[in-house]
Amino acid sequence: MNPALPALPALGKNAADFLKRPRLLYIGGRFVPAADGKTFPTLDPSTGAHVTDVPYAGAADVDAAVTAARAALDGDWGRLPATARGQLLARLADLIEAAAGELAELEALDGGKPVAVNEMMDVPAAIEHFRYYSGWPTKLEGSTIPVMVPGTLCYTRLEPVGVCAGIIPWNFPLMMAAWKLAPALAAGCTVILKPAEQTPLTALRLAELVDEAGFPPGTVNILTGDGATGAELVGHPGVDKIAFTGSTAVGREIASRAGAAFKRVTLELGGKSPNIVLADADIEAAVAGAFDGIYFNSGQSCVAGSRLYVHRSRYDEVVAALAAATREAPVGPALERTTAYGPLVSAEQYHRVRASIEDGIAAGATLLAGEVPPADPEGGWFVRPVIFTEVTPEMRISREEIFGPVLVVAPFDDIDEVVALANDTDYGLAAGVWTRDLGHAHALAARLKAGMFYVNGWALGDPGAPWGGMKASGVGREMGRANLDAYLEIKTVWTVYEPR
Ligand code: NAI
Ligand code: MG
Repeated sequence: MNPALPALPALGKNAADFLKRPRLLYIGGRFVPAADGKTFPTLDPSTGAHVTDVPYAGAADVDAAVTAARAALDGDWGRLPATARGQLLARLADLIEAAAGELAELEALDGGKPVAVNEMMDVPAAIEHFRYYSGWPTKLEGSTIPVMVPGTLCYTRLEPVGVCAGIIPWNFPLMMAAWKLAPALAAGCTVILKPAEQTPLTALRLAELVDEAGFPPGTVNILTGDGATGAELVGHPGVDKIAFTGSTAVGREIASRAGAAFKRVTLELGGKSPNIVLADADIEAAVAGAFDGIYFNSGQSCVAGSRLYVHRSRYDEVVAALAAATREAPVGPALERTTAYGPLVSAEQYHRVRASIEDGIAAGATLLAGEVPPADPEGGWFVRPVIFTEVTPEMRISREEIFGPVLVVAPFDDIDEVVALANDTDYGLAAGVWTRDLGHAHALAARLKAGMFYVNGWALGDPGAPWGGMKASGVGREMGRANLDAYLEIKTVWTVYEPR
């Protein structure tokens, strides 16, 4: 058997033109190949087709990017007034908006995320992130402190942390790039961005837009590569701060290396987030919200509501409605407009998720909806939504992040019981409740150990609203004013104006 290589799906003119241009690293305002000429392939998860090759940045490229970022910080970028920094961020937002359709297609092609989802969410979210942070440079004020020492003036300056490395995953590539770049630049830092090896394309297109916006050379550098490239960045002595989104295992490694070198670090890691349906909930809304909460982006979301706890009096009704919805879910190729749920990002992720489904069955859980996907899939890496019932808290499917369209559902009888169940996890990213009782809602918001809590909704977000987790879900917060703190140092300045 020698199957022909799958063909690439048809693209609009701009996305097709992008693929015809050479794909290069962006270092110090120049587009260059990797110093040693190495490249690696990126694939289309909907078909398995080879899309293109991109440069594989190594130690020499990391060093060149850090040098360029330092020079920009000490040079043209560092000298720009706050108004000009804001203007550049706003201009970049406009350029992304003008390229929105093309970016939505490239994201679908490279990562398997449905084009309609990119158009509706990822691309607008990236644009709004840059717009939101474009307003901040002019508002980063220090303070004067009413100190007790007579005849002295004490004030604080907010200064950029320095050269930042943004290391991002494949599940929201363009959006994650915006989350790392916008606050860092607003704070006056310079950045080296490393997209995930599975999804390098929109970051490379973003490099062109950054260049077009007119940022001083070296302000933003974009290096495509894999974990080894990321590790080079983490270890480079010229990097002052690391912002990472990805797996808990890599986050732990980065945190320990950054800690040993006294580098600033923020981590946005995984989760096993509990979603709770109380007896008095609007069941139709709860079912729709729970469904979207886990299956959005085919479950490849840090904030996926992967554990559902339903009050026993409503359990059968909720589970039946969810199972019916999974059977109708429009799973398909990412560039088809009718697709709501695309393939998983890679063969590796497919087999990881497949192994978790097999593990759940072996542990004795009931596979209520969905199936074990084939060991040897043809075409793309598609997994239809799965629901497990008859689960116990000890099972791996109840404890470990699966990062695929797999939901575990369990009943509960009272609030204390469900709080204990929900908090029985290493993670603490998100949690939520569906109820019409405000007292219950706010009591649970206070009792659940998670960085984000949703009442009658799931995964809501805004550039102004802090986002991040507790425990193994991470360190620090992204978005909003809170994220700027991660990119700013406070300097306290004392002046004696009345010597005693
Ligand atoms: P990963 O953590 O290995 O990759 C994320 C990013 O880190 C990529 O850019 C990668 O090149 C880089 N990286 C990998 N090793 C590194 C190292 N030693 N030093 C510095 N950078 C490094 O995640 P992966 O393997 O793609 O996915 C594995 C699991 O991680 C998923 O199944 C999921 O559970 C979780 N994950 C969570 C995400 C989230 O949004 N919180 C996003 C992606 C994955
Ligand atoms: Mg790809």
